[in-house]
Amino acid sequence: MAEATNLMKKAAAALFPESGEEQASFLRALLAPGPRGNAIVWTVKPRHGEIETLPRKELPPWLPDFIEVVAPGVKVGLSEAYRTGDVYPLDFSSVLTGSALLAARDSLPNEARVLDLCAAPGGKSILASTWLQPGLILANEVEGRRLGPLRHNLSRCRIAAAHTQRLDPEEIARLAPGAFDLCLVDAPCSGQSLLAKGIENLGCFHPSTVKGNARRQARILASATTTVAPGGFLLYTTCTFSLRENEGAIEKLLDSHPDFAPVEVPHLASLRSALATFPAYRVYPHRSPGAGGFAALLRRDGEPGPGTRPPLSKPLLDYPVIGPASDDEV
Ligand SMILES: C[S@@+](CC[C@H](N)C(=O)[O-])C[C@H]1O[C@@H](n2cnc3c(N)ncnc32)[C@H](O)[C@@H]1O
Repeated sequence: MAEATNLMKKAAAALFPESGEEQASFLRALLAPGPRGNAIVWTVKPRHGEIETLPRKELPPWLPDFIEVVAPGVKVGLSEAYRTGDVYPLDFSSVLTGSALLAARDSLPNEARVLDLCAAPGGKSILASTWLQPGLILANEVEGRRLGPLRHNLSRCRIAAAHTQRLDPEEIARLAPGAFDLCLVDAPCSGQSLLAKGIENLGCFHPSTVKGNARRQARILASATTTVAPGGFLLYTTCTFSLRENEGAIEKLLDSHPDFAPVEVPHLASLRSALATFPAYRVYPHRSPGAGGFAALLRRDGEPGPGTRPPLSKPLLDYPVIGPASDDEV
């Protein structure tokens, strides 16, 4: 097992101030990673048994039957169902953090508009689309080289009413203020949980890495808030453990945006963050089959509904994924 650096030990002590034992098991999960749970999302009627998965009784009862957790060692990417876009694999932490959108589902208007501000390679868009069946999903990705895989995945999985864009979040906020019922910010982050998957991520605990990411997250979140319609939702998720990038980012947002309030996610109660005074949720690699992550769901004041949203500026919908103008060029 690799040695924990002082920065990792410091982080573990900040996360679990009351238990040296828990600090040690957290560090072990990062330094000597075992096999992690990969989930699959069926984008068509599930064909249970086609891919070897864990028995349903081992999964949380709220998980719908179109999400399964694959048995250790199964390579989903080699399956026919993956090739045809009938399943999409996701780390189980992404399912847990993404599932916070369920707490918004019943309050969304019909034909809801979803914006996925940091979308590539598409996992959260696919999850949101399957779970919410919105009227429209705009999947945005700033990095050109990640746009192709995003469009490929959305198209392969036949995600309905999906469009893509490659815009800075500030530009989307300028073009579409108050236009979305749900904005997903699956933020670029220091990615500390990648270690639990055995992926090298040098410097991910360094204060300068965390600070740089926190600044970028603050900018993205500021734009995200502008895009949310009255009564609409903002779901913030990361795959890191840093307090500053998680609870800290949300605290700052709430201070500067009194029209947003945190929303309780009842089915995630057991994951409630002990580091926040408001509802926020953490997944840890030593407690769950996933690698780790964070989620906070916020709601904007006001009455939801199609009548309260401005029309979407036409150029935002110039690149449908499936439809008359569909091709893989953008
Ligand atoms: C955690 S990944 C998103 C994963 C994706 N949501 C999924 O579930 O497949 C974060 C994404 O944010 C993008 N990103 C980087 N800088 C950004 C910025 N300044 N504004 C918006 N997105 C950014 C990255 O290129 C990356 O694709």
